Amino acid sequence: MKIENYVRDIQGFPKEGILFKDITPLLNDVEARQECLSILLNSLKDQKIDKVVGAESRGFFFGMLLAQELNAGFIPVRKPNKLPYETISASYELEYGFDSLEMHTDAIKAGDRVLIHDDVLATGGTAGAVCELVEKLGGTIVQCNFLMELTFLNGRDKIKEYPIFAAISY
Ligand code: PRP
Ligand code: MG
Repeated sequence: MKIENYVRDIQGFPKEGILFKDITPLLNDVEARQECLSILLNSLKDQKIDKVVGAESRGFFFGMLLAQELNAGFIPVRKPNKLPYETISASYELEYGFDSLEMHTDAIKAGDRVLIHDDVLATGGTAGAVCELVEKLGGTIVQCNFLMELTFLNGRDKIKEYPIFAAISY
């Protein structure tokens, strides 16, 4: 079983010139999903994880599966003004302008061992902001993991202090 076979290339989405990696076939196949989950879990080498942080929105899919398997809490990091309780925020650079992400202030306790998950590591802006949020609350980042890494965008450079794992690299 090769999980790569369940990621579909979509040319010109969301804009002309972009080759989009579509994970919906992977989400829609029980065996491929299980295989992908196993690959991500094996990379952790039985390290204790207290909390899994998933980035809205595509980081929620496997983020929640990982949290369940790891017997850990799940923390959603969301786009601005989506979370109801008190939040902290971190901004990151986009191609044009800035965006930000938010997390609840009570989501992590100092010293919690945290796994960060997202579907894709591209420029690293999203992952960098998520790491900043976790650090602000005193969490220890055990690993940042991704279904896919687009290596040519060098997103790793933005989170180079942390262990990084990607199930698929392009
Ligand atoms: C995509 C993707 C990652 C991020 C990676 O999310 O799901 O979260 O971009 O890019 P980066 O490394 O350059 O930050 P997007 O913001 O498109 O939102 P979505 O997950 O809600 O689709
Ligand atoms: Mg995303």
